[in-house]
Amino acid sequence: MNPVIKALNFRHACKEFDSRKKISKGHMEMILTAAHLSPSSFGMEAWKFIVISSDEAKKALRLACWNQPQIADASHVIIICARPKAADPSSDYVRMNFERRGLPEDATKAYIEKYKNHMETEVFPRMSAYAWCAKQCYIALANIMTTAASEEIDTCPIEGFEKDWVEKVLHIDTQEYEVAVIVALGYRVREQPPRRRHSMDQTVEYR
Ligand SMILES: Cc1cc2nc3c(=O)[nH]c(=O)nc-3n(C[C@H](O)[C@H](O)[C@H](O)COP(=O)(O)O)c2cc1C
Repeated sequence: MNPVIKALNFRHACKEFDSRKKISKGHMEMILTAAHLSPSSFGMEAWKFIVISSDEAKKALRLACWNQPQIADASHVIIICARPKAADPSSDYVRMNFERRGLPEDATKAYIEKYKNHMETEVFPRMSAYAWCAKQCYIALANIMTTAASEEIDTCPIEGFEKDWVEKVLHIDTQEYEVAVIVALGYRVREQPPRRRHSMDQTVEYR
């Protein structure tokens, strides 16, 4: 079987982690490398990955996450933060991001202009900078989950949290970063339940 499909079959939203089993430093580095290598629109990388492993922090975080036990029992929890201010077309961050391509000044300027135009005409009329950055964060989330699964490490993506509370508990500087999504990682206690999916016919359309 294709190794990615094998990992995708292994992955499920793990509801019960074995709190005694910890993910190795090497595995965590591999998983975070997958996040780091994730693509983002215009290569903006307007995100940050905060890794939580202390029992104390996980306990406090659990309360802000609908009291879900996965948070406290997981070996590690990654808080994926969006960086909305960085996506501002007039920010130094955007300029630096395009400059690092090493293009002539004219081409860099043209890129920034194209980005500004895209954000102003297509993105901002439909969503906030936070929502746009969060979309990119979910790509990293998927790569984190698939890479973990390829090493038989379980995950649970978490959207069930109170954003303001999580940001307060973790002392996140919300002028720069806002929580987009959370993922708990560890090792399952039970076998995964049967997979529920609508049929391919219902969800895929060939034209
Ligand atoms: C963005 C996102 C947020 C989710 N949030 C939660 C959550 O807060 N708690 C939870 O137990 N499961 C959560 N889930 C898991 C889904 O319920 C689960 O992926 C879905 O039911 C399909 O099951 P499977 O992942 O085991 O195939 C979330 C999934 C995604 C993709």
